[in-house]
Amino acid sequence: MIRIVTIIGARPQIIKAAAISRTIRDFFTETIQEIIVHTGQHYDEKMSQVFIEQLQIPTPHYNLGIGSASHGIQTARMIEKIENVLLTEKPDFVILYGDTNSTLAGAVAGAKIHIPVAHVEAGLRSFNKLMPEEINRIVCDHCSTLLFSPTATGFHNLVREGFLPDTLPPYHINNPKIYHCGDVMYDNCLYFSDMAERNSQILQQYGLNPGKFILITIHRDSNTDQPQRLESIFRSLIRLTENTHLPVVLPIHPRTSKVLKSKLQLDPYKNLQHQPNILIIPPASFFDMILLEKNAALILTDSGGVQKEAYFYRKPCVILRAETEWKEIIETGAGALADANEEQILTKSIEYLKNPPRNFPPIFGDGLTAHFILNEIVATE
Ligand code: UD1
Repeated sequence: MIRIVTIIGARPQIIKAAAISRTIRDFFTETIQEIIVHTGQHYDEKMSQVFIEQLQIPTPHYNLGIGSASHGIQTARMIEKIENVLLTEKPDFVILYGDTNSTLAGAVAGAKIHIPVAHVEAGLRSFNKLMPEEINRIVCDHCSTLLFSPTATGFHNLVREGFLPDTLPPYHINNPKIYHCGDVMYDNCLYFSDMAERNSQILQQYGLNPGKFILITIHRDSNTDQPQRLESIFRSLIRLTENTHLPVVLPIHPRTSKVLKSKLQLDPYKNLQHQPNILIIPPASFFDMILLEKNAALILTDSGGVQKEAYFYRKPCVILRAETEWKEIIETGAGALADANEEQILTKSIEYLKNPPRNFPPIFGDGLTAHFILNEIVATE
């Protein structure tokens, strides 16, 4: 029996880990035992528990209760507690997802005590080291033994950083193995899409008509913590809804919510209160988010995961960043970078509404990526 420790902590990791947990439960119970550790990075019910329930993840065996703090304090506390768990459990592998501080902490803790790290969503790069996530990705990849890249671009980024494309077993932190294997989030899209239709009432709840609203998410610190950028995004939203007469729906991340509450008396935020067509709603559950994505006419986002989900559901996506790790989405024409530039957001959005993209080639695998990853882990042991 192979024992793996899965580290989750932030909302996107809960989503990615679900595909692996489900595949273990359905196909690998004889060979793999999973121990789930939640760092507690995300702790609000709507950011964590509701995802664990809807995505059918077993209750975590450990909750480290770390919560919010500065990057240094948050990461250091996680490393200390994850190390304790790993020393107690002595797993054969630690599995990490994505690029958050929980990922970074798991990578450092595992690598330093010689527990092999498997990184799901390896190789992604924005080439912007001002993003905390970019530092987390680079460190995690270089602490890993098995690196599972969802895209061809991710695989090539690793080769450019010196990883060999064709190593032979036995794999080791000094002889890591890199794969281009598809995206576990696409596995989830196929698995949960119908279930979400049956379980979500979000369109009725907010009186939204399919194909007749715009969905937006904003949470990156580069947008929330720089007032000019956030103001510019909100000005563009006000103009977009006035121009198109379509409602704009914004499920709000706690970070963005805190910033907005402190600015409500300022331009352009005070105008928001006179905009019945801009619906700021609490963070959406997983099923509600799927329904919103599947039925939106257009999606605007600074999230990596939402960019991909837009693509899975064949929706145009205006990316509220200057660069993206998901280059393939831009190359197909299904996504466009608009940064936080008011004019660009407006122009690209209107272009997409007039001329929605039709070309969505399968760049995220075949929906069986979790299976592939677990087979490789079993074969490696
Ligand atoms: C984190 C990840 C980011 C990921 C995002 C998904 C890092 C560096 N960033 O960003 O890559 O895309 O999660 O959501 O790990 N907060 C709450 N309640 C919560 C969680 C957070 O109020 O349940 C507040 C915190 O007090 C903090 C802010 O939101 O002030 C940011 O939380 P944090 O987890 O540090 O970063 P995210 O912005 O969520």
